[in-house]
Amino acid sequence: MTRRRVLTGITTSGTPHLGNYVGAIRPAVDASREAEVDAYLFLADYHALIKCHDPAAVAQSSLEIAATWLASGLDAERAHFYRQSDIPEVTELSWILTCNAAKGLMNRAHAYKAAVQHNRDANEDPDFGITMGLFSYPVLMAADILIFNAHDVPVGRDQIQHVEMARDIAQRFNHNFAEIFTLPKAVVGEHVAVLQGLDGRKMSKSYGNTIPLFGTPKQLQKSINKIKTNLLEPGEPKNPEESTVFQIWSAFASDNERARMYADFEGGIGWGEAKKQLFELVNGELAEPRERYHELMAKPAQVEEVLQAGAERLRPTSKALLEQVRDAVGLRSYA
Ligand code: TRP
Repeated sequence: MTRRRVLTGITTSGTPHLGNYVGAIRPAVDASREAEVDAYLFLADYHALIKCHDPAAVAQSSLEIAATWLASGLDAERAHFYRQSDIPEVTELSWILTCNAAKGLMNRAHAYKAAVQHNRDANEDPDFGITMGLFSYPVLMAADILIFNAHDVPVGRDQIQHVEMARDIAQRFNHNFAEIFTLPKAVVGEHVAVLQGLDGRKMSKSYGNTIPLFGTPKQLQKSINKIKTNLLEPGEPKNPEESTVFQIWSAFASDNERARMYADFEGGIGWGEAKKQLFELVNGELAEPRERYHELMAKPAQVEEVLQAGAERLRPTSKALLEQVRDAVGLRSYA
């Protein structure tokens, strides 16, 4: 029986935060340890170029994110761990898919629509600052997914649309040319989907409301203290459903601990106490990975070696798939 191929990527921009950890890294690392799963985890460094044009930042973030995944327990012997730009077949496939993806489909992508709306609100030309990279990004993401014929794609809610587009593109290709692609499915974790940031909105580097993943314990404590709460005093019942403190707690707690804190909120736990417990909980899970992370950051050549081995192991598969695709669309040897 073929094992389920579970694939996810993380854009290598910025410094990893708790939202990345809860939404993408931890579920993917957990999945990679399941016997019946064939895990593909990659650094989406081509995606990073869409928004970042600072070479030093691109390089630094890529290393930080590679080290984060390894430090978070990824077993690179079992899982396929690689860098997108080390698999040239991804970009080759991306072009062939681009020629078969409807522009109208891309017009509907949330990220692109948001950028256009932003321009309209600012009375700018609707295309202002929008590159073809931003516009075509769902096609590149489709290539990431389809090159290894992934079944399941664990993502945050904001990415579901892109996985559905990949599915559309695959379906259309299969119909028009040859049954080559597996139709992928987005998978969103139950309690974790999207972590809230300091201000209660989605935790995102673009909102500047993140909690850095591997800062010092002091920094973690400081961030947690900054989480927005209301003015209710200790002893006054608090609504866990409306609290970012409880939401982050839930992402780290066991079912029992979650239920216990829920009751404590209703029983009027003070914000200071709730935040203190939140710090202990999160720091308890992060202490060991944090140490491994700093060791890896000090030895980038070691991280490079792991990634090279990952790409080498996968390229026979990506090359074989691309061969099929080229043949299907008519790019064939004359001989
Ligand atoms: N676009 C995704 C994000 O910003 C990252 C990503 C790139 C990805 N390629 C992917 C995720 C393929 C899943 C599958 O979060």
